[in-house]
Amino acid sequence: MRVLIVGNGAREDALSWKLAAAPSCSGVFAAPGNAGTASRGENWAIAATDGKAILERTRREAIDLVVLGPESAIAAGVGDRLRDAGISTFGPNRSGGRLESSKVFSKRFMERHGIPTARATIVHSFDQAVKALADWKGACVVKADGLAAGKGVVVAPDAAAARVVLKDWYDNQRVPGGGADVLLEERLRGREVSVFAVGDGRAMLPMAAACDYKRAGDGDTGPNTGGMGAYSPPAAFPPDIFDQVRERILAPALRGLLAEGEQYVGVLYCGLMWTDDGPYVIEFNARFGDPEAQVLMPRINGDFAQFLKSAADGALDPAQITFAHKACVGVVLATPEYPITSTPVKGLPADLELPDGAQAFWGASSRNGKTVDSNGGRALTITALGDSVRDARTNAYAAVRALSSRLGNQLTFRTDIAADI
Ligand code: AMP
Ligand code: GLY
Repeated sequence: MRVLIVGNGAREDALSWKLAAAPSCSGVFAAPGNAGTASRGENWAIAATDGKAILERTRREAIDLVVLGPESAIAAGVGDRLRDAGISTFGPNRSGGRLESSKVFSKRFMERHGIPTARATIVHSFDQAVKALADWKGACVVKADGLAAGKGVVVAPDAAAARVVLKDWYDNQRVPGGGADVLLEERLRGREVSVFAVGDGRAMLPMAAACDYKRAGDGDTGPNTGGMGAYSPPAAFPPDIFDQVRERILAPALRGLLAEGEQYVGVLYCGLMWTDDGPYVIEFNARFGDPEAQVLMPRINGDFAQFLKSAADGALDPAQITFAHKACVGVVLATPEYPITSTPVKGLPADLELPDGAQAFWGASSRNGKTVDSNGGRALTITALGDSVRDARTNAYAAVRALSSRLGNQLTFRTDIAADI
């Protein structure tokens, strides 16, 4: 089958790498793709959100399966357009994608369907926020409603600190994502883990789990980012993690989606806080994580293209893939100013010559002969497998350190990914 991957980040490079290796896959295409996807297939110069152009080219090129990578494509309704035209598409419709694109919708959905999540108050103005904070006890998590690439959440230690954030957002029209709705949430205590479930419109099965590192600096300091590293499988979580998630979160979520007329096809990414009282949902996303996808893909055996196609066609066949009993650690190499700004880096070597078991996935970039021009931000994710998370971590950092000097030390990275387990 011929598979189109929509998006241009390291997540999409990892998806394209695993799809290209699937026995059933005869060709991979990407829109718009990056330097990595260009090395194994054809890139189309079409934006990830341009549903019209994607549909037209998909038809012309006789694509059998489209895989939506980023939330922007889902929120732009690319899935609706392709499915309406009868094209097998992995990734939810815009309405299902609201579980990610609107934190207010998502919170209300969880409340309606009894899914464990932090208690929250929704406000629309600074005055309302001040009222809500009047008798607030303890820390307050301030969350902007819309898509803000991981930058719309501030964990404030108390109401006074939350008030400062809200004053800045409202007074300066700077609510991330551009809306006016903000959630004020109680802070959950526990350990974070992300569980990736796959839906085919009728069923929803947990597939794999990973932990990511969202803050820019070592020791979880600095601003929130899209993610600076990840590892899989998560260490030291209960052995029945998937059973608990299925029972407490996926079953009510699926019932709720179906009751609301939503046939959810694609990944339901459950960002969880594992508390003393079991898993609570911090957020839902409607797609694979970045960089979580980069550490999940190397662990997959079997036919990933058939697996995603079975979900897209409404008959999910989990037997198409298995996860290796190996661990994978991924380290993101970013430009020093990320996430504040992203400065392009030109002339990086295209052939990164990594040791066996290590992989490099390009972020937004383009191939230029023997070199790659990175558009900045999260330029590369370097992953490595190992028999344990500790081994994988050693292998990943060996690869990163060797590479970093070859890249002229132009990129920075966290040195403590998977060190705390
Ligand atoms: P989100 O974009 O909702 O995933 O939030 C980004 C990060 O903020 C999460 O990964 C958590 O580390 C933190 N966070 C969000 N909500 C909460 C909460 N209710 N309690 C504790 N930490 C939270
Ligand atoms: N790594 C977090 C995300 O993809 O949302």
